[in-house]
Amino acid sequence: MNALIEVHNLGIAYRQGAQHTQAVTDVSFSLAQGETLAIVGESGSGKTTVANAMLGLLPDSAVLTAGRLVVAGQDLSQASERVKRQLRGRTIGLVPQDPMVSLNPTQRIGVQIAEALVLARGGRYRGVDNDVGELLAQVGLDNPTLRARQYPHELSGGMRQRVLIAIALAGNPRLIIADEPTSALDVTVQQRILDHLEGLVRERGISLLIITHDLGVAADRADRVLVMKSGRLVEHGTPQQVLAKPTQPYTRALIAAAPAFAEPRAPRAA
Ligand SMILES: Nc1ncnc2c1ncn2[C@@H]1O[C@H](COP(=O)(O)OP(=O)(O)OP(=O)(O)O)[C@@H](O)[C@H]1O
Ligand SMILES: [Mg+2]
Repeated sequence: MNALIEVHNLGIAYRQGAQHTQAVTDVSFSLAQGETLAIVGESGSGKTTVANAMLGLLPDSAVLTAGRLVVAGQDLSQASERVKRQLRGRTIGLVPQDPMVSLNPTQRIGVQIAEALVLARGGRYRGVDNDVGELLAQVGLDNPTLRARQYPHELSGGMRQRVLIAIALAGNPRLIIADEPTSALDVTVQQRILDHLEGLVRERGISLLIITHDLGVAADRADRVLVMKSGRLVEHGTPQQVLAKPTQPYTRALIAAAPAFAEPRAPRAA
C-alpha cells in the first residue's frame, strides 16, 4: 500500500551555536489516505517539529540527523524548495495554531483566501471571488459576501479559525495538519470547529493530522494515536489500545490530565 506520508526513523536537531538540541529521535509512522491520526504529547515533546518537517517548513537551524520523510512519494530530504512549496498547499494544508498571527491584519479576509487559491492554481483566474465565497460557506461562515470584505479584527476567534481552515482547503489538499488549532478558543467553540473540520475531511476523503496536548481530543477523533515524549514515540495504537493499555506512566499522566476524561462531556452538536 502506498501511504500518503511515510516517516522512517526520523531524527531532527536544532543547532544553536555550538549546541545541538535533539528535538526528534527515531520517530516512524505512516498515514494513509483518508485516515485521521493524532500526535499527542506535552509541550516541547516534538509535535510541531514533526509537523513542520512534513511541511518542509523547518527553520534553517534545524538539521535532519537521521531517517527519511516521504510525502506523496517525494523524499523531502532530497526535494528542492520548489517541490516543497508545491507540496504545501496542494498536498498538505496547514491549520495553524494562532489565527491572529497567521492572518494579515491589514488585508480583507476575501483577499487572503483568494491569494491562497491563486497560489494553488499557479495564477489568477476568473471566478476566484466565487470560490472565495464557496470556501467561506463551506467552513460554516454565515453571509460569505460580508465576511470576505471584513478584516480579521472584525471577526471572532472562532470565525478567524474557520477562515484559516478555508485557507488550508484552498489548495484542495490531500492532508490537513491541524496544529493545536483551537487551543485559544473556549471548549464549545473548539468542539464545533473540530466537528466541522472532521465533516469536511470525511466528505472530501482528506487525511487529517491533529496535533494536541489533550489526549481526550485525540482519542475522540483519531483512528490512531501517537504519543510523543521528549522527541520519541512512546505509544502508537488505536485510541482504545492507548487508553485501555497505556504502556507508559507518561501516557497514564496524559489520560489523567485530559479534561474530557475528568468531567462528563457535553453532548456534541452534529
Ligand atoms: N526553532 C527552534 N530552535 C531551537 N529549538 C527549538 C526550536 N523549535 C523547537 N525547539 C525545541 O525542540 C523541542 C521540540 O519542540 P516542539 O515545538 O516541536 O514541541 P511541541 O511538542 O510542538 O511543543 P508545544 O506543545 O509547546 O507546541 C523543544 O525542546 C523545543 O525547545
Ligand atoms: Mg507545538
